[in-house]
Amino acid sequence: MANHGYIPHNGIATINEYVQGTYEVFGMSKDLALFLGVFGVLMDGDIPSLSFSIGKGENSILGLLPQNGLTGSHNNYEGDVSPTRGDLYEYGNNYELQMSQFLQLYDLQSNVSDPSQVNYNMDLLTSFRLSRFQQSIEKNPYFFNGPITGVLVQPAAYQFIFRFMANKSEEYPEGRLSRDVLKSFFSITGLEHNLVYTPGQERIPDNWYKRAIGDEYAITSLFLETTANALAHPEFLSVGGNTGQCEYPVGGKQFRMLCASGGSNGSPNWCCRTIGGRTRRAG
Ligand code: HEM
Repeated sequence: MANHGYIPHNGIATINEYVQGTYEVFGMSKDLALFLGVFGVLMDGDIPSLSFSIGKGENSILGLLPQNGLTGSHNNYEGDVSPTRGDLYEYGNNYELQMSQFLQLYDLQSNVSDPSQVNYNMDLLTSFRLSRFQQSIEKNPYFFNGPITGVLVQPAAYQFIFRFMANKSEEYPEGRLSRDVLKSFFSITGLEHNLVYTPGQERIPDNWYKRAIGDEYAITSLFLETTANALAHPEFLSVGGNTGQCEYPVGGKQFRMLCASGGSNGSPNWCCRTIGGRTRRAG
């Protein structure tokens, strides 16, 4: 939105600008945008000007109080298991796209040879989230699935990809998310097997249509879809994280981690992992 001038180019905007911009560009309902925007100001923004930065937050509009911005918001608003952005403690960077993660998503349609049939729909994004969730558990020694960042924000990041980026048409009222549209929103160019990421060049694709007026994606839509996903995959609700070193060393380099499965008695479900090796229950 900043690239197209729907919010200021420096990426610092007021709640009102986020509400207007997300409605105009994507058809996000104003209640949902207001909710997300207020949370952004409270967690990482500048309260006097009711603004926050989508990047680093050193420049508030009034310059009165320091703010983190969404980039500096790790485990406040921004969290682990993002679709294309890496986990902070895995990559030391939580704002740039990781090509390996983008390709994981992109390749989920590699078996579809007719480009007009490609669609990165919700089912596909949910299976992408499942594998990203498992990856963070296994690869990020300080992975944390928080009650807000993990349980509420993380699903939105996946659902928004289809709900907002998919191109709406008479044939596809819910939208169809093609390879080209996905690439454009994520600033990817180049042909198959030679894709290139250029930070900051995210574009609204040509001939792209947002959600119909009256069919805005609202808080209730987000809530119902998130709940349905959580019921189908209860591991998404496990709040907790890896805690660095394992307390039950069995040799090699290990960390103590949250297991994605098991734990039927409701107790924390910890595992010891030898990196590159087997996982065992830690107690
Ligand atoms: C006021 C409005 C919004 C706020 C405050 C907001 C905030 C955030 C935050 C904090 C994250 C990081 C979550 C994480 O750690 O994964 C995020 C990620 C994301 N948001 Fe938004 N968002 C807003 C609107 C939108 C809209 C309209 C879209 C439409 C496409 C969108 C798409 C995404 C996507 C795709 C990601 C995940 C990026 C990735 O890892 O690939 N957001 N948003």
